[in-house]
Amino acid sequence: MIADIEPLLRGRFGRPYRYVEETESTQALLVSDDPEGAVAVADHQTAGRGRLGRRWTAPPGTAIQASVLLRPAAGLAIQQLSLVTGLAVAETVELALDLSAQIKWPNDVMVNRRKIAGILAEARDGLVVVGIGLNVNQTREQLPADASLPAASLRTVDGVERDRAPLLADLLDRLERHYDAWAAGGLDAVFDGIGSRDFLRGRRVSVNGRDGVAGGLDREGRLLVDGHAVTSGDVLLFG
Ligand code: BTN
Repeated sequence: MIADIEPLLRGRFGRPYRYVEETESTQALLVSDDPEGAVAVADHQTAGRGRLGRRWTAPPGTAIQASVLLRPAAGLAIQQLSLVTGLAVAETVELALDLSAQIKWPNDVMVNRRKIAGILAEARDGLVVVGIGLNVNQTREQLPADASLPAASLRTVDGVERDRAPLLADLLDRLERHYDAWAAGGLDAVFDGIGSRDFLRGRRVSVNGRDGVAGGLDREGRLLVDGHAVTSGDVLLFG
């Protein structure tokens, strides 16, 4: 039951665990008094937010829609948190499906060239709220058809309907470990896991008006396009 995953939690992430059946967006359920690792989860979001002003939608009870409060120390490169979270999500997906997953810079997780999860990191008042939308039990018809990338859920990949609670507990445990490693050692501490799952490497892309071939990520987590480091943006794919 995603309403109560506390018995499954292994670390400090998920405490407190704030579950609601319906809300506009879980991003708004965490407040500055909450401790690091506080988590908000909804079965249904009526105004789920994606990056760059987009919407995130999923029918009630089908997806993992969770927000996690982080308090990185001053001076850390918080824009890297999407990649750190992407690593935790990709590993969770891989364990569930026994298939490899990729991270599409800067915030998507892909399986079989389809987007299975999106990450939205929002900084405010010295903290970062990281929102995770992971498609779990949607059927093909329930996935957004107008998405800029074709979408997948765990169910459309292997046909299995799953309890979301153990998946979320696993994801929070992985996120806590990768976040702690990043907080102590920077992106280098998690780089191998991210770099080896780079979806864009070698593909023709267009980002911020620049067309070229993605050459991987640099050690600061920037996307290299024909050797130029891109800090943020929306990546369009050719083919
Ligand atoms: C994206 O793909 O652009 C990011 C999607 C992020 C969706 C999650 S669902 C939980 C949290 N609450 C929101 O309103 N958005 C994030």
